[in-house]
Amino acid sequence: MVQITYVDAAGTPRTVRGEVGSTVMETAIRNNVPGIDAECGGACACATCHVYVGEAWEEAVGPAEPMEQDMLDFASDVRPNSRLSCQIRIKPELEGLTVTTPARQG
Ligand code: FES
Repeated sequence: MVQITYVDAAGTPRTVRGEVGSTVMETAIRNNVPGIDAECGGACACATCHVYVGEAWEEAVGPAEPMEQDMLDFASDVRPNSRLSCQIRIKPELEGLTVTTPARQG
């Protein structure tokens, strides 16, 4: 299990444990983390699982694939560290990962 902290738009952190092999989105849904709607269920087809990856984690998380990048165009307030959390697979190197959820999704 890997520790992941979700920070909401107001700056309130919430730390949960995520399973290696699962995704950052699935872990959020499983733990009722607010701010991640995940309307398409993880198919990279909705952009309502948009998060900002904490600066210290950007390299470990890696860049978005082209398909994810295309879908991110539909998200609001996209930044260089924007990712779709259903496309971030949890691996041991992500222990302590911090992501911030945007003020609004879609
Ligand atoms: Fe729909 Fe991630 S859950 S794109």
